[in-house]
Amino acid sequence: MSVIGFDIGTYAAKALLLNIKGKGKNYSVSLDGLGMSQMPPGVMSQWEDQPIPARTAMGAAMRSLVKLCKLSRGRYAALSLSGETMIIKKITMPVATQKELKQSLALEAEQYIPYPINDVNIDGHILSTDDRYGQMSVLLVAARKEVVSNYIQAVSLTKVLKPAVIDVDSLAFYNAFDFVYPNSRENVILVDIGASLIHITVLSEGLPHTIKEESVGGQRMTEEIEDAFGLPPDQAEAIKLGTVEAPDKGEVNDIADRLVSNWLAAIERSIDSIRSEIQEYNPSKIILAGGCANLLGLADQVQNHFNVQTEIFNPLKFVKYNPKKFDPGYLEYIGPQMAVSFGLAIRKQEII
Ligand SMILES: Nc1ncnc2c1ncn2[C@@H]1O[C@H](COP(=O)(O)OP(=O)(O)OP(=O)(O)O)[C@@H](O)[C@H]1O
Ligand SMILES: [Mg+2]
Repeated sequence: MSVIGFDIGTYAAKALLLNIKGKGKNYSVSLDGLGMSQMPPGVMSQWEDQPIPARTAMGAAMRSLVKLCKLSRGRYAALSLSGETMIIKKITMPVATQKELKQSLALEAEQYIPYPINDVNIDGHILSTDDRYGQMSVLLVAARKEVVSNYIQAVSLTKVLKPAVIDVDSLAFYNAFDFVYPNSRENVILVDIGASLIHITVLSEGLPHTIKEESVGGQRMTEEIEDAFGLPPDQAEAIKLGTVEAPDKGEVNDIADRLVSNWLAAIERSIDSIRSEIQEYNPSKIILAGGCANLLGLADQVQNHFNVQTEIFNPLKFVKYNPKKFDPGYLEYIGPQMAVSFGLAIRKQEII
């Protein structure tokens, strides 16, 4: 059964439907459908205070993407959480099997979660085990039950889809990376820059080690352009995307430079964080995704700053498609923004 990967961000809802055949080295992936639509401004950052408008907007976006992009072959939706809707943390706990982990996690997790433990769904993935000390590192993922239930209700609002998977943005990106570059043992840093958030996942020998999220995304640049030139949001956005000429290019470049320096500092903090545990850690590659990866010159700026090879991730490059149905130029442009949806679309259906 096909799963549609829905990445409903604060700026845009992205949907992707793939057709995956075969296994191991003999698999083939082809594109069945994809689409993107803008979300009503502000709605998706208000889960805490106003869950109903967020849920309604999410359901409406999914329904219209299914219709617009003819995704009718997909019956199941895979979604992901990020930002204030969830907590992701690497914790250390006594060695246990994956089965035992389920039982002991609730006890261990209590100290890391600012909500009553009965109000959250928790999940854990064993990252590594150190038998010498009887300890293991576990990636703890927790989401408030209320938010998860709202996600499930949003899917029901579409009337055509059933919920299949609820993942986390950073892990979906990691899964997408791992799918197209299987068994990479490299020290890669995955950076997803959206409208509100930057997600940084630092891989040590191919596995997630440090996952961080900071509230500094591309929306800040749009707002600063609005303020600088007294423009409405859509015109400021067009200037940022380069489709409309800026009244003062120098000023726009200064705004972009300030934002980029925030992102560089966030990546630096993640490197410092992993180095506090693995002193000799050296990144071999930085991979950018999210809408802001397309910001002109960003990859070069990151590469020059860290002196580390930097690439823009486009998972759609690894997918077969019919060029009569999908415009290659559009896929090239939209690919980096589809990293999370791709990681969701490759998930197997696990009915919730
Ligand atoms: N070519 C481009 N140049 C600069 N910025 C771009 C470009 N294309 C998209 N963006 C910006 O990328 C952001 C949207 O990216 P994306 O769809 O990844 O965000 P999102 O997933 O909705 O946000 P978040 O994950 O933070 O909730 C917007 O701020 C948009 O202005
Ligand atoms: Mg996003």
